[in-house]
Amino acid sequence: MANQIKISPSILSADFSYLGKEIEAIDKAGADYIHVDVMDGHYVPNLTIGPEVIKDIRKSSKKTFDVHLMIKPVNPLLESFAKAGSDIITFHPEAEGNPKETLSIIKELGCKTGISLNPSTPIGVLDDLIDEVDLILVMTVVPGFGGQSFMEDQLPKIESIRKMIDSTGKQIDLEVDGGINFETAPKAISAGANVLVAGTATFKGGQSQYEKNIKALRGV
Ligand code: DX5
Ligand code: ZN
Repeated sequence: MANQIKISPSILSADFSYLGKEIEAIDKAGADYIHVDVMDGHYVPNLTIGPEVIKDIRKSSKKTFDVHLMIKPVNPLLESFAKAGSDIITFHPEAEGNPKETLSIIKELGCKTGISLNPSTPIGVLDDLIDEVDLILVMTVVPGFGGQSFMEDQLPKIESIRKMIDSTGKQIDLEVDGGINFETAPKAISAGANVLVAGTATFKGGQSQYEKNIKALRGV
């Protein structure tokens, strides 16, 4: 690979009538992670999929399952998501009373840990948590739906978090989610992101286009 940028297609934009085949196709097309958006109709206004579906689609790819929980509360469902085959579990700190405890539960379950920051969440929440995380997810849309526009005003936040990560000396993924396309991907990368979530831009044009789309997002 020419650079270290990882692409995590959001399966929210896949055709759910043949979801397993869609995941096989993005795997073959070069996806690094498989981004699974879990929405509960409560923390966010949309409703998507849960652990039972993840367990079944897990058979379609051995790549890293990057599970983004937009649910509240988080703790009661962690074991189900871990058992279903999640590799990374990311949650929103506003959705649980004690995010540090949630991170330690995720670790005990054998998964990597992720924290997600909404556009309105200040980076100060990371001060107490950065030592416990493997991934920081910066939302560049208000979570809830695919196909929204990238919020450019989040770029300075991405730059600041990149500095924070580098100062720890640890390998922490900096992932950006929402409105990533061929124009906005380079902006997120220059700000310091190394993992890009892309739903609409990956799945555009059908399966014959996935490889081309993923390469273009990666910038190679
Ligand atoms: C938004 C989700 C995103 C979203 C990405 O709540 O977390 O993963 O589906 O979709 P696009 O790439 O279409 O903005
Ligand atoms: Zn997401």
